[in-house]
Amino acid sequence: MTHGTVVEIGVGSGLNLPLYGPEVESVTGFDLSDKMLAIARRRVREKRIDRIDLHHGDAQTLDLPSESADTFMSTFTFCTIHDPLAASREAYRVLRPGGVFVLTEHGRSTRALARRVMRAIEPPITRFSAEHITRDPVPYLTGAGFTITEVQHGGPGGIVFRILAHKQPLRN
Ligand SMILES: C[S@@+](CC[C@H](N)C(=O)[O-])C[C@H]1O[C@@H](n2cnc3c(N)ncnc32)[C@H](O)[C@@H]1O
Repeated sequence: MTHGTVVEIGVGSGLNLPLYGPEVESVTGFDLSDKMLAIARRRVREKRIDRIDLHHGDAQTLDLPSESADTFMSTFTFCTIHDPLAASREAYRVLRPGGVFVLTEHGRSTRALARRVMRAIEPPITRFSAEHITRDPVPYLTGAGFTITEVQHGGPGGIVFRILAHKQPLRN
């Protein structure tokens, strides 16, 4: 499902970069943190990963042409973005029709008690780390125009999930 021209937002220290397979032509990664980008660049150098281009950049306003990517990738980043609707709209703009946004995130547990605990501890966590631990990306993605094609829960208490969101192909 990850293929062609890939854009990864919040690339961080580049943990995903060695995992892209041969069906990926190129990866353009963005992050707001120069420190994280320096670690990612070192990883790319040391592991001799090709097809990677890393930039300082904000997921809410990307310096990329419209309809220029086949796959958009975000792992554990959507929860920290200040305006998730703006980031979803940017992903929609940059993806080609038929393109896919792949998100891995943590969010509300499928267990009631864990959900209550998460809601209780979320305000201080958000205040000190800007992290929204129970944020659900789905309403932002559909609000930007995406069609949700898969939501898969896993991990302890179902707090980790993967979402596939498609930009519908153009109709003749
Ligand atoms: C929890 S880390 C995840 C890093 C990486 N995706 C991973 O899975 O290891 C979140 C990253 O998102 C970056 N970030 C937060 N808001 C951002 C934004 N608006 N635009 C680009 N990057 C952002 C942070 O600097 C941080 O490196």
